[in-house]
Order: sequence, then C-alpha cells, then structure tokens
Amino acid sequence: RQVLLPRDPSQPPTVFHLVPFIGSAVAYGMDPYKFFFAMREKHGDVFTFVLLGRRMTVALGTKGTNLIMGGKLSQVNAEMAYTHLTTPVFGEGVVYDVPNHVLMEQKRFVKFGLNTDNFRAYVGMIEDELDHFLATEPEFAAFRAGGKDDWGTFDAFEQMSELTILTASRTLQGTEVRAQMDKTFAHLYMDLDGGFTPLNFMFPNLPLPSYRRRDKAQKAMSDFYLSILQKRREKQSDEVEYDMLAALMNQSYKDGRPLGDREIAHIMIALLMAGQHTSSATMSWCLLHIANNAGVQQAMYDEQVKHFSAPDGTLRSPTFEELKDLPVLDSIIRETLRVHPPLHSLIRKVISDIPVPPSLGNASEDKSLIIPKGNFVLAAPCISQVDPAIWKDSFEWEPSRWTDPNSEAAAMYKEYTETGEKVDYGFGMVSKGTESPYQPFGSGRHRCIGEQFAYVQLGTLLSLIVRHLELKIDKVPPHNYQTMITTPQKPRQISFRRRQL
Ligand code: HEM
Repeated sequence: RQVLLPRDPSQPPTVFHLVPFIGSAVAYGMDPYKFFFAMREKHGDVFTFVLLGRRMTVALGTKGTNLIMGGKLSQVNAEMAYTHLTTPVFGEGVVYDVPNHVLMEQKRFVKFGLNTDNFRAYVGMIEDELDHFLATEPEFAAFRAGGKDDWGTFDAFEQMSELTILTASRTLQGTEVRAQMDKTFAHLYMDLDGGFTPLNFMFPNLPLPSYRRRDKAQKAMSDFYLSILQKRREKQSDEVEYDMLAALMNQSYKDGRPLGDREIAHIMIALLMAGQHTSSATMSWCLLHIANNAGVQQAMYDEQVKHFSAPDGTLRSPTFEELKDLPVLDSIIRETLRVHPPLHSLIRKVISDIPVPPSLGNASEDKSLIIPKGNFVLAAPCISQVDPAIWKDSFEWEPSRWTDPNSEAAAMYKEYTETGEKVDYGFGMVSKGTESPYQPFGSGRHRCIGEQFAYVQLGTLLSLIVRHLELKIDKVPPHNYQTMITTPQKPRQISFRRRQL
C-alpha cells in the first residue's frame, strides 16, 4: 500500500516507494493508467513519483495537461527528456538533437511534404499495396480460397505492422526504400527498432549487443538515404515524386543555410520511427474492435456501399477527398485513439521552477506549490480521454458518441468549434488546444505533424479491409504497456473469411 512520505510543503506530494532508485517503476511500468488513477485518488492531480532515479511530476486532468503541453520554453524542455533515446536511432542534427527553434523549422519542412497533392496520390498506392499483400501473404491464404467456410486467422499487431511499413515506404519514404523493403532495409529497420525500447529510454548506453546493432543499423540506414539523394540529384529527372525525400531536397533554413543531406536522411529515419508503431498499433486496435463488434463492422461496410457502389455492382476505389467524408469510419478511428492512444506519457525536463496554479492539485495547502528545476514533468492526456467525469461510459469503445448529436463528445466538439480552437486537419479532430480533453496527437509546439498522413493510411486500409474481409474475435485483448507504444497483448488473433456477398 502506498503512503505519503514527509514532504517539502512547497512541492507536490511524492508517492511512497520502498526501494530508493527503482521507486514506482514497477507499478507505473505494469499499468500506467491504474497507477495514475490510484495516485490521483490519493494525492490529487499533481504528484511526483520516482522512476529509476528520476523525479517525475505528473500533472493530470485538462489543466494539468495544459500546464505541461502549454509550458513555456523557459520552463519545459523536450530535447533533454528524449534525446538519449532518439538521437542514437534517428541520428545527429535533427529533432531532439537540436535546439527547439531548429526542430520547429524541420517540422515546417516536413509539413511541406505532407500536402494534399501527395495525399491524393497515396490513396491509390496504399490500395495497391493492400491488394498485393492479400494476394501474397501466407496468413491470408483463406482469403484467396474465398469460400464461406474458408476461415483463417492473423495476428492483428504483426500483420498491421507489416502493412504499415509497406504502405509508409511506398508513399512517404519513396520508391527506392520500398524496393529495398523486402531485402536489406527490413533488417536495418528491425535492428534500429530493437534500439527504440523502454530499456533504451531508461538506460541510454548499455554494453549489450542490441545497442551495438542499433548503432550499426543507424549508420547503414543513414548512408542508404544519402545514396538515394545523391542518385536523385545526379539523375535530375522531370518525373514528379510524391514522397518526402523530394519535398526535403530543396529546403533552406531561415538563415539561408540549405538543409543538408545527412539531416534529410535523419529526418526520414525519424519519420519512419515516429509513424510506424503509432499507426500499426492504432490499426490493430481498430480491427480488434471492429472484429469484436458486428454492428459497427456492418455500419462501416454499409457506409462503403453507400458511397462507392459502381454501376457494375462492385465497389470503386475511394479518393482522398471522399475518405475525409465518411462519418462512421472517422468515428471508429477517433474513438480508437481515445481509448487506445499509442503514447500514454509525454515527458519534458523542468529547466526552471514551475509554479502550480492554485486551481490545480489538492486543496488549499497547495496554493504555493512549485515543480522544481531538475524534475521531469509527465503529461498523460490518456487519463482525461477516459475520465468518467468527462465521458459517458468512459472506458467503453463506443464510436457512436462522435456521431450522436446529443452526446458529450458532440457537445465538446461543438464547443471547440465555436470557440475557434478547432483546426481543420482534414478529418476534423476536436482541438489543438493544450487544455483539450482529447489529444491523442499531443498539443502545443510538439504536436504531431503526422496526423493527416496517419488518417490517410488508416482510413484507406480500414475502408478496403472491411470491403474484403469479415472479421471476428471474441474479446478485445488488454493493453501491453511494456512496449514503447501501447500495444494489444497476445493472443490477438483475428478470425476472418472473404466477405460473402
Ligand atoms: C509528435 C502521436 C503518427 C511524426 C507526436 C506526439 C504524439 C504523437 C502524442 C507528441 C509527443 C510529445 O509531445 O512528446 C501520434 C499518433 C500517430 C502518430 C497517435 C498515429 C496514429 C505519426 C506519423 C508521423 C509522426 C505517421 C510522421 C509521418 C511526429 C513528429 C512529432 C510527433 C515529427 C513531433 C515531435 C516534436 O515536435 O517534438 N505524435 N503520432 N507521427 N509525431 Fe506523431
């Protein structure tokens, strides 16, 4: 049972722990939701726990999230929280290996490549990849057999990981990367990914083979992108490429310095890693829920029939614009990201004392609390996303809350729209405000830039999968928090057969 330690009254309460360095690592690591809800009950919205020697101050609720995500640059720093994990994987000179103002410029370069023309081109490419995947993957032999008794099964996360990397490489990463995906690139990716784990986050340098493999793979992958860039520059063809490399090749910083090829290579690796587990986990959770809910699966299929029926009775390919306008599909992705946001903890280092507003934390004694310089702060918007005080049946996966005009989610959506806080990312997220109760893509200066790409990828794949397959599973598996991204625990086998018409 956890109890309070004698505390410095000017600081948030510290969660009691028995073993000094380890602190609450086990309770937090096993189930962060359970840990945060229990500690909130005991200490209020703001408390500190020890995680392998680091003092982590958690600020929960929408106001707590706002304190961190909307924190001033002079108070909170993301580079110092993440660089030891990300720089050995992405490489030097990008993202958290550079001051924040450089990251902001790099995000601007990437946004240039995430444009509507590219997204339009991606929908067809993703469809091609899925067709090829279903036609060749051993797991989907039952689909090819096609009879009503030909049921097969697949591991939701493993198969969706494969589809995600195939489609991301075909689209954003470019043809050269896609061509190597069945060969050397896949191995490099595996080794790099093996260095992107909670262990790497907690212990940046250990004399382990996986760390050495990570470093070797980083260098090889970086060189691979460099060689693609050189070849493209030599070729100088007039062919339009819709990928990110093409978008990054002619960018310059505000001071006139061109974006270097090594930086481009490392941005490409960063995008590959940032999008892979986040999107594949989300795809898996969507499929697991659809498989578990025949009614929603049917509604999703009916929506496809309504919008895409061709005169010959088949369903025609969707366009980017059409995909944006499918309320059932949209509600499924949105609800999945509410209940299963891939990132449960967003962390910053405190670089100057942060005063905690009196409205936050517990009772009047906390009026003059400060979070001291040297601590880390941890925002967990995932908690507000399932807070029973905010959402009806908050832990239930219920996509219709987003389409029902009388629901709490619809009211929230309306409120943000009316206050002008909502930004149109194409698929209409609730808000980019740092105080929003719904922020699976984060908020503030570090907000995700991959949201629209993720929606194109998820929306296209889900639409087409539900046309091809009928899915079934008895139970949606619980979360596994031992991975960097919240994934579904095994077993997570989905049964399927070819959709019977
Ligand atoms: C940042 C979630 C897909 C690139 C973030 C953050 C979250 C997030 C929560 C904020 C991190 C923080 O504040 O500490 C997601 C989810 C995704 C997804 C849920 C898919 C379902 C992608 C994709 C890409 C991407 C596909 C690239 C194409 C980035 C980048 C940042 C970011 C570059 C900015 C980091 C920064 O400014 O510090 N993402 N992401 N993400 N994401 Fe994503």
